[in-house]
Order: sequence, then C-alpha cells, then structure tokens
Amino acid sequence: MTELAIPALSLVALVGISGSGKSTFARKNFAATQVLSSDAFRAMVADDENDQSASTAAFESLHFVAGKRLAAGRLTVVDATNVQEHARAGLVAVARAHDVLPTAIVLDVPEEECWARTQARPDRHFDRRVLTRQSRDLRRTIKSLAREGFRKVHVLRGVDEIESATIAYERLFNDRTELTGPFDIIGDVHGCRSELETLLTALGWEISRDEAGRACSARHAGGRVALFVGDLVDRGPDSPGVIRLVKGMVEAGTALCVSGNHEAKLLRALTGRKVTVSHGLAESLAQFGAEDESFVAEAKSFMDGLISHYVLDGGRLVVAHAGLKEVYHGRASARVRDFCLYGETTGETDEYGLPVRYPWAEDYRGRATVVYGHTPVPKPVWINNTICLDTACVFGGELTALRYPERELVAVPAEREHYAPVKPLAPAGGGRPSDVLDIGDVINIADPAGRRHLDTGYGRIAVDGRQAAAALEVMGRFAIDPGLLLWLPPTMAPASTSQVEGYLEHPTAAFADYRKVGVDTVVCEEKHMGSRAVVLVCRDQAAAEKRFGGGATGAVHTRTGRPFFSDAAVTEALLDRVRAGVTAAGLFDELGTDWLLLDAELLPWSAKAGPLIRDQYASVGTAARNALPHAIDVLDQVARRGIDVTALRGRLAGRAENAQRFTDAYRAYVRPTDGLAGITLAPFVILASEGANHAGRDHGWHLALADRLVDAASGLFTRTRRLVVALDDEQAVAGAVDWWVELTGSGGEGMVVKPLAGLVRTPKRDLVQPGLKCRGREYLRIIYGPDYTDADQLHRLRDRSLGRKRGLALREYALGLAALDRVAANEPPWRVHELVFAILASESEPVDPRL
Ligand code: CTP
Ligand code: MG
Repeated sequence: MTELAIPALSLVALVGISGSGKSTFARKNFAATQVLSSDAFRAMVADDENDQSASTAAFESLHFVAGKRLAAGRLTVVDATNVQEHARAGLVAVARAHDVLPTAIVLDVPEEECWARTQARPDRHFDRRVLTRQSRDLRRTIKSLAREGFRKVHVLRGVDEIESATIAYERLFNDRTELTGPFDIIGDVHGCRSELETLLTALGWEISRDEAGRACSARHAGGRVALFVGDLVDRGPDSPGVIRLVKGMVEAGTALCVSGNHEAKLLRALTGRKVTVSHGLAESLAQFGAEDESFVAEAKSFMDGLISHYVLDGGRLVVAHAGLKEVYHGRASARVRDFCLYGETTGETDEYGLPVRYPWAEDYRGRATVVYGHTPVPKPVWINNTICLDTACVFGGELTALRYPERELVAVPAEREHYAPVKPLAPAGGGRPSDVLDIGDVINIADPAGRRHLDTGYGRIAVDGRQAAAALEVMGRFAIDPGLLLWLPPTMAPASTSQVEGYLEHPTAAFADYRKVGVDTVVCEEKHMGSRAVVLVCRDQAAAEKRFGGGATGAVHTRTGRPFFSDAAVTEALLDRVRAGVTAAGLFDELGTDWLLLDAELLPWSAKAGPLIRDQYASVGTAARNALPHAIDVLDQVARRGIDVTALRGRLAGRAENAQRFTDAYRAYVRPTDGLAGITLAPFVILASEGANHAGRDHGWHLALADRLVDAASGLFTRTRRLVVALDDEQAVAGAVDWWVELTGSGGEGMVVKPLAGLVRTPKRDLVQPGLKCRGREYLRIIYGPDYTDADQLHRLRDRSLGRKRGLALREYALGLAALDRVAANEPPWRVHELVFAILASESEPVDPRL
C-alpha cells in the first residue's frame, strides 16, 4: 500500500494520459465535490465533454471555480490530463494566488494499456497518435514538476501502484489549532536576555540553567505555553543567550517561536551568505563568534526550523512576527512568509530612510486575534483585535507579554538603552485611527448593486448599495462620533388595521396580532409624544475616554444618529443631570458598569420639532380656522337670501370642527422650553451596559429601573405609565382598551404594546415584533389630515398595507440586537458601526411614512 501525503489544504493536479485512470482514481480517493474535471467543464460550457474547441472556456471556468474553493480553504483536485507545462502553469498560478501548496499526482500507465482501455470506451473517439503525443509530453513532465512549483510530487507507476495508493492528509506546519493555551505571548527580545529572564519570572515561569549557570529552558507550573513573536536576536547584549533559553523551551515543549526578520538575516549571515551588516547584526555576529561551534550549529538549525506563523486555539489566535492579514491565516507561500517576516511596505521611505509600513492592522476585519511585534511602539494598543507587543526593550523601552486568553499585559522595563534608535517611536497604528471606518465595511464594492450581507446572529440581512450611499452621506455629514454611536432605534410597525367603527388603530388589533404568534402576556406602555433620544452616559470623562475614546462623557442622539442638541455644552449639561440620576439610583454599581445606554423619549415634542410644528401643522390649522368661519358666514348670508345650502354648510362646519381638533392635537405636545429648562426624559429601556445586552430581560425589569431613575431625579425623568395584560384575561383586556381610550382622549399619542418577556421568537425561531404601536384617534389627525375620520377617507385608509413596514421593523430590530451584542462583547468599533450603519441605510427604504 502506498500512502500519498498531501497537505490538508492543497490544489492537487492529477497528471496522466487519457485512459490512465485519473477519473477512476479521483472517484475512489476524493469526494465528488472536491474534483473539478475538465470534461465536466467542457460539458458545462459546450454541452459536449469531448469538444476540444471549448477547452479554453472550460479551463477558464475551472480555474475560476478552483480559485473560489481555495479561497474558502477547500481541498481541490483537478482531473485533466495536465501533461503539458502550460496547462500545469495555470494551476500553479491559481494555487499561488490563494497561497496554497500545489501538489501533483502522476499516474504513469503504459501507453498500450491506455490504448486498450480507450478502444473499449464508448465516450472516447481519438486515434492512437493523440495518446502517443500525450505520452511524449508526460515523459518530459515527470522531470520538471518540482521545478514548475509543485511542492509535492507523487509518481505512481503502473496499475498496481495506482490501485493500492491511499491519501494521507498532512497538517500544515502553521496549524496548531489544537493548542488552546493558556499562553504567555512575548514581544521582540532582541538579545535582552536578562530582561527576558525577569519577565518570565514575573509571569511565574521557573527557569532552568546549565552547568555554566546559563538559562537554558523554562517551564510554568500552571502549564502555560510561551509564544515568541520573533526577533529574539540582534542589537542587544546577549542574542546567543536568548536563543539558548528559547530553543530550550521550544525543545521542552513549553514554547513555540515564530521567525522574525532578524533571525532570517542572522541565519543567512551565519551560513556565509552575503548580507549587509546593519541594524545590530554586527553585535550578534560578534557574540556568536565567541560561542563554541556546536552551539552555533544548533542555533542555526533552530532558526532554520522556525515557522513564520502559527494558527492556535481553534483558529482564534494567530501569531506572526509582523502580523498577518486574514486571507493569509493558515496559508503557506513565499508571499505569506514575507508578510509574516517583514509586513507589507508601501514602497515609500520615510525621512529616516526606513521603509514605510502598510498599516494592515487598521484594515484588519478578521475574527482571529493577531499578536505580533516588529514595529516598536511606546505602549501596546489593541487595533481591530490585533496587538503589537514590540515595546522597544532594546531601545530602553519595555519587554512586554500578553497573557492569553486573559488579555492582560505584563511588562518589565529595559535595564538600560542597549541600542540607540534611529528614529523616535511611533504610536501603535500610526496612520488611520481604527475608529475611522472603511467604506468596504458598509458598501460591497465587489457587487454591482453594492449589496452587502450581514450575519447578525438573528438572521442574514442584505443592505442595498444605494441606501448605504444615502446613509453614508448622512453619517458623514451629520452623525455623532461613530465611537459613541452604538445603536439606533428600529422603526416600529403599527398593529394591524382595526375594523372597529371609526378607528384606524385600536388596541384589540395589537392584542390579536400577539396572540397569533403565541405571546400570552403583553405590557402596554404609554407612548410619549416627544422625540426619540438615545442616551449614552458614562460615569466620568476618564471612563468615557477609556471605553469609547473622544472628548465627550457620552452622547444624546436622535433616531438618525444626529446630536440632539447642536450645542455640545447643552449635551454635556444634560448628561451631567442624567449621570447624577443614574448615580443616585445606584445603577452604575448595581450593573457593574461605567456606562449605560438608555432608550428614551425626550419631551416636549416642541423642543426638537418646533419648526416642523410651526411650518407643517400650525400653518394648516391656522389657515383652516381662518378660512372656514368666513366661508360659513358667506353661506349663512346666501341662506338668508333663500337659497338652500344646508348640505354644503354642514360639510364646512364639520371641517371647521375637525380643524379645531387637529389644532388641539398638536398643541397638546407643545410646551415652552428654554435650553434645558422644561425638558424631561422618559427612559423605557436600559439597552446595554458593560458586558451586557439587556434585550433578553423582560420589560418589568426595564421599567423598574426606569422608575428608580424617576425616583432619583423626578425633575429630569418622567415616568412611563404602563399596564401589564394577560391576553387570555378578558377583563384585563377590556381594562386595557379603556385605559387607551382614556389616555388618548386626554391628548395622549397612544400606546406601544410589547411582549412582556422582551425578546421573543416564534416556534420557527423568527423574531417577533418587539412592539406594535397603537396610536390615538386624535393623534392620527396630525398624520392623516384633519378629516381622515370621515367615513369615505377611513374606508380608503383601511386598505393601507403594513407588510413592508413590518419587514423593515424586524430587520432593523435584528441589526440593533446584533449591534448591542457586539458592544457587549467589546468588539472593535467598525463591527458595531457596520450594523448601526445598516439600520440607518434601511431607513431610506421606500415605506409609507405615515405608518
Ligand atoms: N479503467 C480500468 N482499470 C483501471 C482504471 C480505469 O479498466 N484500473 C478503465 C475505466 O473504467 C475507463 C477507462 O479505463 O473505462 C479510462 O479510465 P478513466 O479513469 O476514465 O481515465 P482518465 O485518465 O480519466 O481518462 P481521460 O483522460 O480520457 O478522462
Ligand atoms: Mg477522465
């Protein structure tokens, strides 16, 4: 039995003349979906697998599909003759483009045998000369495969060998996903052996020494594993000493080490290759010159064996010297190794003559944590789930370790400046700060419609490119600091249109809607007629700075992410009062948080909507109240002359009454305010706090906390009146209807009916509407016009269609829930923002604005 070793992720080219048994071999040894056969692709593009004129199109498609598979990390086998070099070159190129290892399996079967088989096949009609030509090509092929770039070449000679061969998958060297730590990841040491010993000791490692007293290994009683990010050598006082210790740890299985660019160059220098002796290499060469030969030989083979990156902890952790972008994780190619060792450079040089490094971490959007070194920074800073641990020990800075999974940093100071830096240290990241967003996070440039799909954990949601562009415009011009924009309120659908005489919306419809999806208890909350305000309040400036960056102590923003007040000082003044209330209510301590995100209504409506009320509503009311009495007067004069205008007069009198009702409706929401004087907040949901999305809590919890805010600061906070209703309790239901009639009869906007439990799903796991609004009869006059209650108008309005609005409400709800989950998990700003942005983008969907 012959075992053919194949890298677990690889592009496998089968090579053999027609009839050599490639398809048979592929069928036996690989899954059907792994095999891309040129015959199948010819059939796909030309309806005939023997149509040689379709070969170009067939191979183009085959390469395309192979590329997609490799990009997704799937083993791919190409079943084609592959006896000509140009055919194989195409495959090597596809493998390289995706940084996977190309492998060749040659089936070398005597031409006679293949000819015999061919003649027996009904699907092959070529003459013998074709086989002869293929055989001649194959002979040349076998010798040149390795040179062409195939990293593994297996040649199976004869029918028996092919028959008995089996495939054995080999893990890539960088695949250490089975190691789960805990790890102590250590930054660039650069010959600072003494500081390394101090750091290891501080981390709880026990160092062992050789006869000469030199540190030669270490172990941790807690079973921790050390990971070195490379650049153990050069510049510092004892590079051989560092190699001795780390090599000992790696051999003892207590450490892994990736190669840094300095190991690569030192190795070349020690093996006698011509290199420029600079950047502290001279020091290392002198130090190694004083070591005995056998140690130097061991050090060389140690450095030679260093892998350029590791994927650890089930793929959640990646360690590479200069960091690694996501498409390269777990891949193997010269290009990947170069990135790991040197990073990507922009091709420019800075004023110190050093290459400008491309700030890959700013663009990193991967799920794995990437830990690296290479670029000295004053302090390690998390950038998009990546962190650089090179804190310039050799330049007099610190030697830093990251405890993983704890994510704690431990550092020891350099004993002195061992080497003078060429240039001052740049802060981590350097270029674009990581809260500056990438257009690729919100618009899919690869899609013709710019459509992006977001996996929310509550369903996959598509965002249209044009809507995203509109949102981008709004965000870019008007929105608050994206670091503080954690959530936007989803739109809310009304309850199904009511059939109750004279009503478009009525609580009975909301109750019926919830009963239908299995909700048994709801809470009816008074719908405050103000403006939606989302309030992020931090304990103090320092807490805000640490958690969200920026200069504010929180934010008060509208449902489209704009600052509620144009004057930042007003916002801060309001935040001060909110903070005092939250502190007095003890909520920061109770929830173990330095910040709270509240969903609230800011009252009165006129505080924000003054101009809208004046221009849109008051003008209509005033015009009607001025014009209609005159018209009625005129009709009265006409009537006195004996002409019958009773019907017309009746209609006008009705309209005058409606106009008065319309005016009364909006006037109820107008109250004088002056700056913050007269403004109150009605909080109704505690959205999130450190480490927690509270969407899963029931509304009893939310409202109890809101009540405590009201008790703590009644001048600022307004209570939300509510009624809990068991939907199978007829009396309770009737009571709720009465309550609504009373509420809306005395100028209230209406109520929102929510499942008491908060986040609820249907038996099919779909999200249930988080709330349904049920607006009052008089309030709806503002929306649908003064005369909407007239029988003919009401009849037409009953046809309004709610489907789009409902779908939109659910999508926005899902996006908002996911955003809060990501906030709770302390994910990087862009991860939160892409969802918040998607909510805003959805808002430009064409939906009846009156709903
Ligand atoms: N066959 C056989 N004994 C084997 C292998 C193959 O008799 N050990 C037969 C198959 O049943 C088939 C023919 O030989 O009828 C050719 O085998 P196939 O696997 O189709 O060969 P390929 O190399 O795929 O030929 P082509 O390049 O023409 O697709
Ligand atoms: Mg075949």
